Amino acid sequence: MQKTTKHQTSVSFLIYFLAIILMSGCVSGQLGKNNSGEYKNGMVVSAHPKASEVGIEILKKGGNAVDAAVAVQFALAVVYPNAGNIGGGGFMVYRSSKGEINALDFREKGPSSASRDMYLDSTGNPIVAKSLYGQLASGVPGSVDGMVEAHKKYGKLSWKEVIQPAIDLAQNGFQITKQQASELNNMHRNFMKFNPEGTAFINLERPWKENDLLVQNELATTLKLIQEKGRAGFYEGAVADSIVLEMQKGKGLITKEDLKNYHSVWRKPITGTYRGYKIITMPPTSSGGVALVQLLQSVEPYPLKKWGHNSDSTVQLIVEAERRVYADRATHLGDPDFYAVPVNELLNPDYNKNRMSTFNWSAATPSSSVLAGNVNGKEHEETTHFSIVDREGNAVSITTTLNGSYGSFVVVKGAGFLMNNEMDDFSVKPGAPNMYGLVGGEANSIAPNKRMLSSMTPSIVEKDNKLFMVVGTPGGSTIITSVFQTIINVIDFEMPMQSAVAAKKFHHQWLPDEVYAEKDALDSLTTEKLKAKGYKIVLRGGIGRVDAILKTKWGTYQGGADPRGDDKAIGY
Ligand code: GLY
Repeated sequence: MQKTTKHQTSVSFLIYFLAIILMSGCVSGQLGKNNSGEYKNGMVVSAHPKASEVGIEILKKGGNAVDAAVAVQFALAVVYPNAGNIGGGGFMVYRSSKGEINALDFREKGPSSASRDMYLDSTGNPIVAKSLYGQLASGVPGSVDGMVEAHKKYGKLSWKEVIQPAIDLAQNGFQITKQQASELNNMHRNFMKFNPEGTAFINLERPWKENDLLVQNELATTLKLIQEKGRAGFYEGAVADSIVLEMQKGKGLITKEDLKNYHSVWRKPITGTYRGYKIITMPPTSSGGVALVQLLQSVEPYPLKKWGHNSDSTVQLIVEAERRVYADRATHLGDPDFYAVPVNELLNPDYNKNRMSTFNWSAATPSSSVLAGNVNGKEHEETTHFSIVDREGNAVSITTTLNGSYGSFVVVKGAGFLMNNEMDDFSVKPGAPNMYGLVGGEANSIAPNKRMLSSMTPSIVEKDNKLFMVVGTPGGSTIITSVFQTIINVIDFEMPMQSAVAAKKFHHQWLPDEVYAEKDALDSLTTEKLKAKGYKIVLRGGIGRVDAILKTKWGTYQGGADPRGDDKAIGY
């Protein structure tokens, strides 16, 4: 038997020790994880576990937050077809580890032959279904161009690498969640109606069940073309031909020229401050960033922390702030390339302080007495948001949408992706009440090549010039409320990220003059006190589906994945 020397023993011990360290690094999610579920190297939070996995793998491969964001956007188009998309649009807010900030507007545009009254009947009344379902409801998609632009400017890995995971998911299929099975079954009739030639979302043999494999071969082919040719793989050639052919089936307006001419736009983010934190958020075409900063300015003078989370004073103050801000939103916000949005005036702290001066603690301010503007009140809530931070500390906040769940329900034949119904986000009939008795805004009237107003509010918060939070949510007009309440839940009520996201929310949007509250958002005493002051409280289902990341004072990342959906935070 060989004798072991003292030197050999210490070398063996060293190898053993190194192996333990390396092994612990190989256990998924453990490298960089501290005891409280926080991570130091990076994090992805999205609406679907598979998309979060795709993002984290890109980060682990050395990709940066933008590489991961592009991969997640395409992966969501496969695994979360309700809102993940290549046939829709969205917004990105970016902050580099060095503090550079930027915003990308890849919102859809009205086709070049769109016209102000295109959804009105001969008597001038809106034909609601026309802007909601079928080929005519679609704007020119922006997501693919947006991802190409984002990657060109900030990406590190190759375009091929960041698209590949989505192709694999479409080609090999993925197991649908219980929630997805039930949604696909509920939407069966709509899919049949708008896709008589069939689509991957229709299961003719039996209802969908949890863990069924959803394979999307046509979508895989489209993604391969985008992988090979970049934006030309979507806006030109076979995919563009398929979109135009699909449009012709239902009087849709999108032409080859519209597709070729679509370009996303880099815009200067909206910035503001709140209790010493810096808010970086989306400018118009979103109304969200302006409204978010207005809300924060409106409540900043008041001691929310002392009053407590969802206490009667806190709720009353926020409702009154929202009433005023949503009236402004309805009147003044639209596509800045077509309409002079008075951003500086709306973001003047004195202006918002003044707006709050008519608020009276003893009784609700009737919305009819708040300066009446115009509002488009029929926004859909099925959008999706994801937040990403990489090892260097670069952060991406993207909200992306088809508008309604599964958009227009039209799946482009031969190309396998859903088209948006974003045209419904325009004011279909400016100056007259819509189906809810609300009035549509001139700023957001339909015009050729114009972008429809959005509420999407992807945002990033800084503290002491360093990254603090990445946050956003779906939810139509409730998006602004949910992002706002998540931010104050952390800053004022000192909640950890997950609690701030999960906390029950409430919402007021000027018109209708009602406070919408999730079940258990307000306790019975608070509800009684508010009712006595004239507030109408209406209980409703989930508000928002926030996916957010918080950087702790120890430099670790905490995820907040909304329990209202299948959302997942993965760090490493
Ligand atoms: N379609 C929802 C939004 O853009 O706000």
